[in-house]
Amino acid sequence: MIRPYPAGFKTIILITAFLLSAAAKAQPLRQAADMAGKLVGAAVSYDPLTTESDYSDTLAREFSQMTCENEMKFSSIHPGQFTYAFSKPDTMVAFAQANLMSVRGHTLVWHNQVPSWVTGGGFSPDELSAILQDHITTVVSHYAGQVYAWDVVNEAFNNDGSLRSTIWYDSPGIGFAGQGTAYIEQVFRWARAADPNAVVFYNDFGAEGLNAKSDAIYSMVADFTARGVPIDGVGLQMHLTESGISAADVAANIQRLTDLGVQVQITELDVRLDLRNGPPTQEQLDRQASIYHDVATACLSNPSCTAVTMWGFTDKHSWIPSFFPGFGAALPFDETYQPKPAYYSLLNAFLGN
Ligand code: XIL
Repeated sequence: MIRPYPAGFKTIILITAFLLSAAAKAQPLRQAADMAGKLVGAAVSYDPLTTESDYSDTLAREFSQMTCENEMKFSSIHPGQFTYAFSKPDTMVAFAQANLMSVRGHTLVWHNQVPSWVTGGGFSPDELSAILQDHITTVVSHYAGQVYAWDVVNEAFNNDGSLRSTIWYDSPGIGFAGQGTAYIEQVFRWARAADPNAVVFYNDFGAEGLNAKSDAIYSMVADFTARGVPIDGVGLQMHLTESGISAADVAANIQRLTDLGVQVQITELDVRLDLRNGPPTQEQLDRQASIYHDVATACLSNPSCTAVTMWGFTDKHSWIPSFFPGFGAALPFDETYQPKPAYYSLLNAFLGN
């Protein structure tokens, strides 16, 4: 009998396949993302980072980038008019540096988590402008050389593409009320001046695919880049549900933005599951995994999409259950830090599968 392959060859193949799949399973996400030329990040909270070794170990092993979930927001980092609170975010940045992780700064200009000394201070637009310039300049220069990218402005548009009415825009605003994106332009200029080497991002939710909001953001970025207003990137938050998102629309949106010369990052990915009937079913976990895969693949398909960041990494610590009661299990690791199907689908996407 003529054998098409030598005796024992099948066994060797089986052993090799087993070793390869074991290697894939042991392969931390960050190495796979490195090989794909992308950063893979997570939003991180100070308390578990400093008290739970499973949290800090998993984070350092699996992720190449961190975002402070709350600790760099206005109310946390600038709690009094003449008081900055750098201690917690400094500790987090030091952890990132010790573990060779990049740090994204989040966020300088947002309508939420603004302290009451600002919202209740009765300030005029001129006074608010001086306060915001001081805030941006102080925070960005404090982290110059340590935070490589800033979400300078977060969530400034409504879903219909109009500008959101906020304390910074028009209530009373920093002096550009009714002038469209002029106030956004001003704050990007302040951020650029505070650290010319930091990459400055506009970040929003619900503008991942093609719709009125993403059209408005696209128009702003087109205008800014045409006029030389500093902007280097657009963050697509990507807080998704089991309905998922059209990967083709996300890819098209990434393409049109990057055609303007800016980079794109997925900044806050999570996929919340409906838990009103109990813990997630295998079907829900598999559906979630395929949504994670779609999002990672959309980013991987464009060289100017530079990072995929999750809003957390373990279901033990996620904003979802308290903001969307009845929903949860949104992240790639479960509450006991075991990888879920979503973890393996992300890993496979980064490995090109
Ligand atoms: C959320 C945090 O996860 C919560 O801990 C906090 O109470 C509220 O903010 N979009 C953003 C993030 O840009 O800053 C938000 O983070 C989630 C939605």
